[in-house]
Amino acid sequence: MKFNVAILPGDGIGPEVVNEGIKVLQTVGKRFGHEFNLTYGLIGGISITQTGEALTKETLKMCRHCQAVLHGAVGGPKWDDPKAKVRPEDGLLAIRKGLGLFANLRPVKLFPPLVNATNLKPEIVTGVDLVVVRELTGGLYFGRPKRQWRTSRGRRAVDTMAYSEQEIERIIRVGFELARARKKKLISVDKANVLETSHFWRQIAMEVAPEYPDVNLEHMLVDTCSMQLIQNPRYLDVLVTENTFGDILTDEASMLAGSMGMLPSASLAGVPQEGTGIFGLYESIHGSAPSLAGKYMANPLATILSVAMMLRHSFGLTQEARIVETAVETTISEGYRTFDIMSEGTTKVGTREMGDMIALKVGGQ
Ligand code: IPM
Ligand code: MG
Repeated sequence: MKFNVAILPGDGIGPEVVNEGIKVLQTVGKRFGHEFNLTYGLIGGISITQTGEALTKETLKMCRHCQAVLHGAVGGPKWDDPKAKVRPEDGLLAIRKGLGLFANLRPVKLFPPLVNATNLKPEIVTGVDLVVVRELTGGLYFGRPKRQWRTSRGRRAVDTMAYSEQEIERIIRVGFELARARKKKLISVDKANVLETSHFWRQIAMEVAPEYPDVNLEHMLVDTCSMQLIQNPRYLDVLVTENTFGDILTDEASMLAGSMGMLPSASLAGVPQEGTGIFGLYESIHGSAPSLAGKYMANPLATILSVAMMLRHSFGLTQEARIVETAVETTISEGYRTFDIMSEGTTKVGTREMGDMIALKVGGQ
């Protein structure tokens, strides 16, 4: 099969980890006879430097001609001036919105050999395997008005948390579909005791629920959820939540997996179903880590696992996705680690060596 993939390496360690993702993707291509046509584009800080914009129309158009996008990371000190008119992060928000990527899937799975790489007690994190479904193109991130202004009594600022029923319904459906394919347990996370949008969210979740009689729906307040993630993370399986809540909860949840460098993500433009391809953007949840850039020590596993998600969700290549995931698991069990997941008695490798080892296994060697 033939697939067109847009590659947006971005800033900092983005290009380094993306290279390892491509290495693995091309190995999948060779072994299984697929052709992945790659087209490169600019996003984030590098795009600001070269074009003045964090995301150009050209990049967006190029992505629209592809079935999937592999994204590195954006941001860095060069573009950090708080007075700057445009920030690298604007590029990421614009591409999410521009491509209609409303469903952000963030699986959090602790690979057993990494149990000592986490800051939590082994008995708490052993067996953690959950996925956060984060609404990605609405809520507090995108609601209007959003601005700062001056008044006679001082300066003011506002952000708006707003949702339409359609926006909530489709993301709730993504949650239900995923729950159906897993443990048939969906937790909808909100702040319904205070926020009107959350009250609305909960109502819509309850309206959709009868269509999924095989899935058990539970509601959880976001503050409780943040506590549960640390207290009893194994209780959680599929969570569905608002954009900002999802942003915060997934950074917290990443610590259960040992490192942010382990967490992939998929941002989809539709409801995922086994065997069918949906347009999506794939990226690790970690940032551009400017202090590591150019050192080739960053962990590429989150990006490689994002490639596995691409194979599964955008190309319907389930077997190929599993092979990539198994290669990651095997390499970890053999004791190879990047610096962020090192523990006593393991072997430290760099970004490229880690990518090479995964690619070798994916290639069948
Ligand atoms: C994430 C990141 C982004 C977000 C930033 C870089 C804009 O934190 O993907 O979680 O807040 O969504
Ligand atoms: Mg975040």
